[in-house]
This record gives sequence, structure tokens and C-alpha cells, in this order.
Amino acid sequence: MNLFYIEEVDSTNKYAKEHIQDLSDKTVVYTFNQTSGRGRLDRKWAYLGKDNIYASIVLKPSEDMREVYSNLTQYLCVVLAQTFEEYGVIPKIKWPNDIQINSKKISGILAEGVIEQGKLKGLILGFGINLNTKKELLDKIDQPATSLNIETGKIIDKEIFLKKLLARFFLMYDKFIETGFLLIKEEYLKRAGFLNKNISVKIFDKTISGLAKDITDNGALRLIGKDNQEHILLIGDIL
Ligand code: BTN
Repeated sequence: MNLFYIEEVDSTNKYAKEHIQDLSDKTVVYTFNQTSGRGRLDRKWAYLGKDNIYASIVLKPSEDMREVYSNLTQYLCVVLAQTFEEYGVIPKIKWPNDIQINSKKISGILAEGVIEQGKLKGLILGFGINLNTKKELLDKIDQPATSLNIETGKIIDKEIFLKKLLARFFLMYDKFIETGFLLIKEEYLKRAGFLNKNISVKIFDKTISGLAKDITDNGALRLIGKDNQEHILLIGDIL
């Protein structure tokens, strides 16, 4: 693993994408000053001060796209949850890859692929973590959010947190690429806060409502619709 620190950048994902040729496999681009962060579904990821983490993991597993790559966000999600647990909190996963503590978002993941002439040049796993964000700043966000500092009452050392997280990520990464979602299914399910609840999932401009029944062996959400119809969802956002 290589750590690549940038003093200030608009978006670590954008930087990683633009410099994909020069960044080697398993490089982590990170900053504490991200001025124009991007979120999923064209949303923004607000800058919440320099005491938080804004980072992108650059991965170059192979030039052909494999199904397991789309599960990498779920792998990172489990690793994030396990790292939060080291601080004595109880994180819950909101499918596919949000982490919440006490029903408030604490981190977000944005995965992007760089494909050129039909070949996969790299995968970028971007993540933002609210470590020491103050309540006044979080209150300005458009959804309930929290930080590890608020949840523990302690000042969190961001360098130590990042090192713990990345050590966990790379410990099992190669095995995960070989095995796929099944390697983490149990760990994922243990923390899945949405199962056996009635939920609505937004998939582009469509919304499906029903009972969140299960997670399949490849990480998809099995939803039983109001009409008793089964939906296997690979992408979407729980509303
Ligand atoms: C989301 O929940 O919508 C995903 C947010 C991902 C934010 C991170 S911060 C570091 C990296 N660079 C970006 O521009 N976005 C990701």
C-alpha cells in the first residue's frame, strides 16, 4: 500500500481518476482539505473541516470487469464498521454501503471505475468519514448525520483511524477479490439495520417499496414488494 497525502484538493476521487496512469495499485490518495467533494447520485459531499478524512483507494485488480468489483463498496463498508467498533460504538449498515450510528450517517462511499478502450484502468473507492465534525456543521447537512467525536465524546486522531482502517482493508483484500461477497456476508448481515423492515428503494427515477427480506450471496437486496413480487436489487438507495 502507498499513502499519498495532498494538502488541498477539489476531490480525491477526481484527482485519482485524472492521474490513474501514474498511481500504482493500492495507492491511497487522501487529504484533510477537500473543497469540492462528490457523493453518490450526483450529490455533493460537503467539506466539514480538516479534522475529518477524505480519501480514495486506487485499485488495479485486472483489466476486465468482474462482478466482485461492484461488491468492493460493501467490503469497505464492513471494514469501516469494524474500525468504528474499535472505538466502542455500534454502527449499522444501510444497504448498499452507508454506515449509520444511532440512525445518523457517519461515512459515505463513492466507487468509480476508469474504463478506456473497453479496458478497466482502475477502480476508485472514495470515502468520507465524519471523525471530529461539530454538531453545528452537521446540522447544516440535508440528512441526519453524526461524527465519531459526537458519538464517543473523544477527540479522534485522524491519522491513527486511517491507518487502522487501511490495515484492515488490505489484510483481506486479495482474498476478497478471489472469494467475493460470501467472504463478508456474515459480517455484513450482523450489522444490517434494514432487514425485516418495510423500506422504499430509489433506483434512478423509480421507487420500489416492500419488505427487505434478505441479502443474496452476491450482495443484492431481496425485497418482497406489496404485490408479493420478489425484487433482487443490485443498485439503489434506501430512502
Ligand atoms: C455518498 O455517501 O454519497 C458518498 C460520498 C463519498 C465522499 C468521498 S470524500 C473522498 C472522495 N472524494 C470525493 O469527491 N468523494 C469521495
